[in-house]
Amino acid sequence: MSASKRSGLNELKDNLLSLKSSFLSSFLLHGKPISDRSRVAIIVNNFFLHIQGARTHINTLRPTYTFGLGLITLNLLLIASVSGILLMIYYHPSVEMAYSSVKDISYVVFGGRLLRNIHKWSSEGMIIAVIFHMARVLFTGSYAKDRGFNWVIGVVLFCLTLMVNLSGYILTWDQLAYWALVIVANIVQSPKEITDILGITAYFDIGGFQKEIFLGGLNPGEETLIRIYLLHIILFPLALFILIGIHFWRIRKDGGLTVPENFEPTKKISF
Ligand code: HEM
Repeated sequence: MSASKRSGLNELKDNLLSLKSSFLSSFLLHGKPISDRSRVAIIVNNFFLHIQGARTHINTLRPTYTFGLGLITLNLLLIASVSGILLMIYYHPSVEMAYSSVKDISYVVFGGRLLRNIHKWSSEGMIIAVIFHMARVLFTGSYAKDRGFNWVIGVVLFCLTLMVNLSGYILTWDQLAYWALVIVANIVQSPKEITDILGITAYFDIGGFQKEIFLGGLNPGEETLIRIYLLHIILFPLALFILIGIHFWRIRKDGGLTVPENFEPTKKISF
C-alpha cells in the first residue's frame, strides 16, 4: 500500500519535472531548432510563429531600418486596449452619468487617474508612432510596387487610429467633448452645402440624413453617446485588429520587409 503510494508520488514528481520539456516539445512539435530543416518546420507548423517568415533578411534585423515603429504602434494599441477594458468597469455611457463617472475615475477610484493617463497617453502616442511609421515606409520607398495594397490597408489603419481617438475624446461628455461632437456632426452634414448650391436639399438632403444617422436624432444626446461608445469600444478596435492581422499577413506574403536596392550583404552592418 505504502509502496504504491510512494510510486504514485514519484510519478507525480517525474511528471512535474518533465512538464517544461514536454510542454515545449508539444508547442514546438518538431524538437529544438538545431538545424535549418527543424527551424523551418517549427515556424511553418506553429500558428503563433507562422506570422514570422522562416528566413529573415539581415537588413530586417537592423533596428535603424524600421526603428521598430510598427511594433511600437501595435504595443501602444495593446496597452490602450487593456487599460480601456479596465476603464469600462467604472465608465457609464449615459448623458447623466458619463462626466461624473469620468470624474470619479480620476478622483475617487484607486489608481483610476493613473489608468486614465495610461489610456490617454498610449492612444495619443499611437498617433505619433503611426505617423513616424508612415514616414519610415515613405522614406524607404516601401509603399511601391506590390506593397501598394499594404499601403492602402495602412491608410485605413491610420484613419481608424484617428477615429478611435476622436470617439474616445467625446466619451468624457464635457464641454470640450460636446463642442467637438457638434463640429464632427457639422462635417458629417457637409454634403448639404452641395445640395444647397444645386437647390435640391428639399428633395434630397443626404447631408442632413447622414447627420441624423450619426447623432441618432437632430441634436447630440443619449443616442449619440451610445453610438460613439459602441464605435469606440467595439467597431473601431475590432476593425483595427482585423486589419492589423491582414497588414502582418501581407508583409509575410510579400516576402518580409523591403530591402534597400543598394544593400550590400557583405558590408559590416552597424546596429
Ligand atoms: C495601427 C497601425 C499600424 C500598425 C500596428 C503597423 C504595424 C506594422 C509593422 C509591425 C510592420 C513591420 C515593420 C515595422 O515595424 O516597421 C509594418 C510594415 C509596414 N507598414 Fe504598417 N502598421 C500600421 C500602420 C501603417 C500605416 C498607416 C501605413 C501606411 C499608410 C503602413 C504601411 C506599412 C507598409 C507598406 C509596411 C511594409 C514595410 C516594408 O516592407 O518595409 N502601416 N507595419
